[in-house]
Amino acid sequence: MPEAILDTAASQPASAAQSVIGKPTPRIDGPLKTTGTAQYAADYHFPGLVYAWPVASTIGSGEILAIDAAKAQKMPGVLLVLHHGNIASLYHVGPGSYSGRAGESRPLFADNIVRYYGQYVAMVVAETLEQAQAAAAAVHVSYQAQTPNVSTELNDPQTEELPLHTESKRGNVETAFASAPVQIDATYVTPTVTHNPMEMHGTVAVWDGHRFTLYESSQGVVNHLNVMAEMLGVPRENIQVISRFMGSGFGGKLFPWPHSLMAAIASRQLVRPVKVYVPRDLMFTAVGHRPETQQRIRIGAQKDGKLVSLHQDYRNHTSLGDDFRENCGEATPFLYSTPNLLVTSALVRRNVGAPTPMRGPGAVPGLFAVESAMDELAVQLGMDPVELRLKNDTLIDESTGKPFSSRHYKECLQVGAEHFGWSRRTAAVGSMKQGDLILGWGVAGASWGAFRGGAQAQVSLHDDGSVRASCATQDVGTGTYTIFAQVLNDKTGLPLNRIQVVLGDSSLIPGPTSGGSVVTATITPAIADGAEKAMRAMLELASSTPGSPFHGKPVSSLAFTDGMVHIHTQPAGSGQPFQQLLRLANVEAVHGAGQSDPLYALPQARKYSTHSFGVHFAEVTWDPGIARLRVSRIVSVIDAGRILNPKAGANQIMGAAVMGIGMALFESTQYEPNNAHPINNNFADYIVTTAADSPSIEVHFLDYPDYAMGEYGARGIGEIGLAGVAPAITSAIHHATGVRVRRLPARIEDLLKS
Ligand code: MOS
Repeated sequence: MPEAILDTAASQPASAAQSVIGKPTPRIDGPLKTTGTAQYAADYHFPGLVYAWPVASTIGSGEILAIDAAKAQKMPGVLLVLHHGNIASLYHVGPGSYSGRAGESRPLFADNIVRYYGQYVAMVVAETLEQAQAAAAAVHVSYQAQTPNVSTELNDPQTEELPLHTESKRGNVETAFASAPVQIDATYVTPTVTHNPMEMHGTVAVWDGHRFTLYESSQGVVNHLNVMAEMLGVPRENIQVISRFMGSGFGGKLFPWPHSLMAAIASRQLVRPVKVYVPRDLMFTAVGHRPETQQRIRIGAQKDGKLVSLHQDYRNHTSLGDDFRENCGEATPFLYSTPNLLVTSALVRRNVGAPTPMRGPGAVPGLFAVESAMDELAVQLGMDPVELRLKNDTLIDESTGKPFSSRHYKECLQVGAEHFGWSRRTAAVGSMKQGDLILGWGVAGASWGAFRGGAQAQVSLHDDGSVRASCATQDVGTGTYTIFAQVLNDKTGLPLNRIQVVLGDSSLIPGPTSGGSVVTATITPAIADGAEKAMRAMLELASSTPGSPFHGKPVSSLAFTDGMVHIHTQPAGSGQPFQQLLRLANVEAVHGAGQSDPLYALPQARKYSTHSFGVHFAEVTWDPGIARLRVSRIVSVIDAGRILNPKAGANQIMGAAVMGIGMALFESTQYEPNNAHPINNNFADYIVTTAADSPSIEVHFLDYPDYAMGEYGARGIGEIGLAGVAPAITSAIHHATGVRVRRLPARIEDLLKS
């Protein structure tokens, strides 16, 4: 089947040569998705393709005593049954490796130890999916089972605990807290939550006898390649990873998971293309999750609300095989001014699959705790929670002593309060009504780091009049294709229907992983640089080509405007379209190799602390008669630098608000204590926010360019939207009901205590 490469020509009207940077620009890949033309990983099909299906452990801890595959092996269509007893060896990713990180570090089927429920213990490959599933069900595994530990009590003294780790420290929190006139000391718990992107994980592996092509749903095709090369023991140049389109990832697709190895080894052994997809129930075991966190927050304050100490001790669970720290102190050290601060962390092991980053890792659960505690402080002080935050604002990152490159947290609070109508709020619990309903209004702050890595991008101008940019990064579904095209449009003046963007292929020039909201700030300077170099190469060609009207003219006298090469003192219309000059020279394309440097290498950035900020206001309605709580309104104000695409940007913030409602009210992965089975591993029992649960969501961007980040002044926007939504909602719940929810999600049983 021919591959759908992004071709925007069919779908976009020719626009006037006017920059679309900063304009609400529809996704250039939208029509391919809405028409079903875009191919996702599991959509790839090849002649001779066969299917692998896993056998997943039904115990949460113990040993495999025996695997009896005799019956399965004789079933129709079965080609291969693999397990720890007969698999050819796979490797660990070695230290000092070429930036490879696997989601689960243990190679597939490495031993007979079962460390979590759902761990793959065998796999069956068959001619059809149904044959593979039937045979997998016929593989008999006998176990020596032990009682797993999936306790949600993270202070359990029985548990192996990794040493306490100090993450940030200034002053002396103990003495400051002890003498503070106002004290808050509370513990907050966020549960295990599971990434549930619409597109589940899947791999189609094609081994041709020499090299692998892997069709993946991956947030990092380059990292995926590096890991697979190491774990499979093949040279990097013998693997190509393709991930053209994604139905989202939320962090769950940052690193390769064992099913990818399953497809690859089966393909290599059978020399046939092999497809594996991860069904929804196994999305809850071997492809990561956000771990449970437990956070004790102590705040000391003066009577006027000024903070004197902030102390966060958190712990999170991790798996038996991997040390995953949830980084709940991501935002704590600098969000508010306080002379005394301490953030510590500890890990405790549980019989669960490896945790992995989920949207706003660390900051999201961390801000649930810190911002909830701030609300408790406001209540105790009898102070407005917006006022309390304004009072403790700072323009200096007190953890480093550096000023923020661009922080407008105060303005977020003020603009949000204005749009929300906060001045009409009356503070007393249950004091606001809407008909028979009680209204609750809450607010919480948001923060997420602003990152920029080094990157390269290739830009070329072609003799058909198009411009093309390519890079081995990928579009999680957030709008990366469109941002590429917007920058090319801005630099070359060519309309979107003459712009081609190619990404999602590890054979392109290496690009960034789509994680940490880094891609926009990382890649836009490289595309801009590549476009400038390609246009410069075009002018050089125009000057050096015999027969060109510009032959012999100094390059410095020429300009490239809206696709025309012209004398820079004369209007663009007096020149020649660049494609005509390419044809004259018999050159198919001129190229520009774009580069951008990481933030730490930029002198203008090193002086600053770079972060994005935001504030969410939430309204809930509470009907005590039938114990019914709804989130009825969210207003978000986001300070994320210059917004390159307000449409795609607002989509991210709205989607995050919806996810935040899930975090506050619904989502929690429940492990059965006897066998560690995540029993709500389906969409009937694992509740996510639906359209019916989604309120009116209003998004405002402050849109201050942050030039420490580069010429476009843009910071990332994928993750910050989720930070702060849950504590805004639980603060609103407190305002409506008087119930303080310190353990997510808020449940009806909690609210009935009101
Ligand atoms: Mo994000 S959790 O780095 O995909």
